[in-house]
Amino acid sequence: MAQQYIWLNGKFKKFEEVTVHVFTPTIQYGLGIFEGIRCYQTKKGVAVFRLREHAKRFMDSAKMYKMKLRVSQEELEEGIIETVRKNKIQNGYIRPFAFYDNVVMGFFYPDEQMNVSITAIEYGNYFQNKEKGLRCKVSSWRKASSDVLPPQAKVSGNYIASFLSRLDARDSGYDEAILLSANGLVAEGSGENIFLVEDNKVITPQKSGDFLLGITRDSAIKILESAGVEVEQRGVHREELYKCDELFFTGTAAEVTPVVNVDGRTIGNGKIGPITRMVSERFSKIVSGEDKQFAKWLTYV
Ligand SMILES: Cc1ncc(COP(=O)(O)O)c(C=O)c1O
Repeated sequence: MAQQYIWLNGKFKKFEEVTVHVFTPTIQYGLGIFEGIRCYQTKKGVAVFRLREHAKRFMDSAKMYKMKLRVSQEELEEGIIETVRKNKIQNGYIRPFAFYDNVVMGFFYPDEQMNVSITAIEYGNYFQNKEKGLRCKVSSWRKASSDVLPPQAKVSGNYIASFLSRLDARDSGYDEAILLSANGLVAEGSGENIFLVEDNKVITPQKSGDFLLGITRDSAIKILESAGVEVEQRGVHREELYKCDELFFTGTAAEVTPVVNVDGRTIGNGKIGPITRMVSERFSKIVSGEDKQFAKWLTYV
């Protein structure tokens, strides 16, 4: 990390130069905004996956909390590209992060402008067991509904429930948690969206559900539809997880990750199923620049 450069409000700083005081509202109250974006090596050079959509979501997260940023969406997009270039990242994870640097002891209103930093690192699989499929646990922690915390906002404090559920899953011997919404329907993983396959049809929780509408979720739906696979978006009950033929997660970090066991029940035959494999392989082709149909999802640095 010491050799790394961090983009800060349009200028590069050395990694160790970007610091804040412990009494900033971002540290005390979780008032930070973040994105997770990947870039991939292709034959035509390194490309960022769905840059515009991630940058737009970053801006929207700020808007939902009335937070003001020091940079525009265009400057953010340019900064992401420059950060990948400057740090010579090939297959990486990019983390834009907005934070306050003012010191506050009492209640805090978002009147100050937030600093925007961008970091990029080389990154491989998010899950150790990605290749063989994950064992998951339905968490006893529920996903907050959108009248409690806006699930579409990637604001640091929103992620405490993800932390609790993932921690519980690990401490019970599982790879990942699946969270239900307050209404008992399946919401998502701690940082992934979820898809089920039943009778060659794909089902995923509906748009109005209390979960983040992931950019990889949208990519997977478009991949499936382009392959002629029907995708139904509707409320999903917990027991459907146990009896479906295939199950997989999507997310920037997770990419397309198969799930082979939920709460001790084997999914299908316990192996990665054909539809999961198809989506995963097509996704890999797209991000490595080998797919014409979805070439527009790549921004070359
Ligand atoms: C809670 C949550 N759900 C789902 C996702 C997947 O979203 P995306 O595919 O946009 O990374 C993420 C990751 O950003 C997340 O934090």
